[in-house]
Amino acid sequence: MNNLALLATLLACLASGVLAGKVGPPQQHLPQGPQRHMVCYYDSSSFVKEGLGKLVIDDLEPALQFCDYLIYGYAGIERDSHKAMSLNQQLDLDLGKGLYRTVTRLKRKYPNLRVLLSVGGDKDIETGEDAKDLPNKYMELLENPTGRSRFVNTVYSLVKTYGFDGLDIAWQFPKNKPKKVHSGLGSFWKGFKKVFTGDAIVDERSEEHKEQYTSLLRDIKNALRPDNLLLSTTVLPNVNASLFFDVPAVINYLDFVNLAAFDFFTPQRNPELADYAAPIYALSERNPEFNVDAQVTYWLRNRCPASKINVGVASYGRPWKLSDDSGETGLPPVSHVKDEAPDGTNTQQHGIYSWPEVCALLPNQNNAYSKGANAPLTRVVDPAKRFGSYAYRAADKSGDNGIWVSFEDPDTAADKAGYVRSNNLGGVALYDLSYDDFRGLCTNDKYPILRAIKYRLAN
Ligand SMILES: *[C@@H]1O[C@H](CO)[C@@H](O)[C@H](O)[C@H]1NC(C)=O
Repeated sequence: MNNLALLATLLACLASGVLAGKVGPPQQHLPQGPQRHMVCYYDSSSFVKEGLGKLVIDDLEPALQFCDYLIYGYAGIERDSHKAMSLNQQLDLDLGKGLYRTVTRLKRKYPNLRVLLSVGGDKDIETGEDAKDLPNKYMELLENPTGRSRFVNTVYSLVKTYGFDGLDIAWQFPKNKPKKVHSGLGSFWKGFKKVFTGDAIVDERSEEHKEQYTSLLRDIKNALRPDNLLLSTTVLPNVNASLFFDVPAVINYLDFVNLAAFDFFTPQRNPELADYAAPIYALSERNPEFNVDAQVTYWLRNRCPASKINVGVASYGRPWKLSDDSGETGLPPVSHVKDEAPDGTNTQQHGIYSWPEVCALLPNQNNAYSKGANAPLTRVVDPAKRFGSYAYRAADKSGDNGIWVSFEDPDTAADKAGYVRSNNLGGVALYDLSYDDFRGLCTNDKYPILRAIKYRLAN
């Protein structure tokens, strides 16, 4: 081709617009990408903790400049009457100084903040002798049309009375049964088939419940619509969306959906095998479904607009106790573990370490020369940014002081925000502000996980 012919071809291409983007003047102002949402969960039960885990409103405020939505948890439902109710009336409602009002009033100071009330969230737990034999009241409510309208009316009036901008429904559906590990079968590989087979039925009536949940969300949306109030739903950890969410139907009623895509492995559910608690991608053939990407893909395939999906990120880690049979490498999956890691020093909760509790265990100035139960853990990062980080300390000769913890840190949390950006999703939902380092104990920065997510969402 001579130069003239080349020029002619080029001009033809230009005219047809094929090369327009490439040969046109460089774009000085790239169009701003869509605004991604930062959804911050605030579990108010942290307000009544003792010690360093206690988070009061003054501690909450430094987070609010980063949050587009603050989701206040948690309200519940009253068994039999099916009314929506506060789970801690003294804390939430008490005249004048109740937290519901205190929190919704923060909007005066942070005018772009939207505050939603969340229902359920696995925090509406009945205790006492026969609690475990009681039927799931969330399913009972779905099955009862009168109950549903009772709930809709009472939840609407909570939202309206206390000035919330809307509702998040974190419905307590039955969870997937943890896959059982049978130890004593020799090598892990030999036991492999046993580990991941034997699916039990989660809910015999899931088809019915799915339809009823669609009706419930429709009725709530209809109640909220005249006031322009928001409605979101949270898919709680280990709830199988394909059993309970008619995605194409419910998505019309929802402003967004928060996928609590973590706790795939926990010491409570999996006391005999430790593994990554919240990987972004599948851990090879180990399990194709226990990861963020599989959940996001499920919603996208079912015609949920990407912009309505918020990826849930946990600001805590999951610790197991290692035994002297767990090996020296820490390489997951780790067998011969126990749900017996010591409770977190600040949160005093079993089986969960807040980020400041994890960072205190990682190598730092305070523990450089410590031994035994205070020796630093070995931190193992994932350069491929697919699975997350873990840290461990092998058990000593007497079988003590072994720990394995899968955790999210500011870097891995930012990787998830990067995943949200590259898949054009709506944003990130952080669980929970009270497990982030709200005191700045790790590096003097308050809310380092929240900041890292927010920064990556924007840049
Ligand atoms: C969820 O349910 C579907 C059937 O509707 C099943 O194929 C899938 O394996 C389940 N996922 C999990 C993680 O249990």
